[in-house]
Amino acid sequence: MKFPPKKIAAWEELKACYQNPRAALIPVLHAVQDERGSLGREEMEWVAEFFDLAPIEVQETATFYWMFRTGELGRWRIAVCKNLSCDLRGKDEVLRAVKDVTGIEPCGHGPVVSEDGLFSLQLVECMGACAAAPMMDINGEYHENLDYAKTREILESLRREEEGR
Ligand code: FES
Repeated sequence: MKFPPKKIAAWEELKACYQNPRAALIPVLHAVQDERGSLGREEMEWVAEFFDLAPIEVQETATFYWMFRTGELGRWRIAVCKNLSCDLRGKDEVLRAVKDVTGIEPCGHGPVVSEDGLFSLQLVECMGACAAAPMMDINGEYHENLDYAKTREILESLRREEEGR
């Protein structure tokens, strides 16, 4: 795997900012993801070598944080918050709408991709928008104060957008 030498130099500089170079692991994972689109096995092995870590240590970090794309994902990446405020205020209705539009059954482990490859769904921890619960993130954009109808409308508009391409 190759990255532009300028990028690698910047990541080396970042590593050098910390007493424990491993503190730069998350920003470097973000940068590698930006470069490559996702963090597959090759990317994680490269990062492990860069930090002199075992690949499993990088994998543990990358799979813990939902913002890292480590598996197969849909064109539209849906992350639904499963924590207390969202749970109490209607997360299940959000998930019901996701299932009705995409066919995806929520699963506690990692992202699940719809049959048409258009959507993937991941249940995630609190995203810091509890006051606007329940909420979901789609490709980095927050959708808040959701209910069944609003969630459905958002997802159907994404499907229509895709069909119009
Ligand atoms: S509990 Fe859902 S955003 Fe905080």
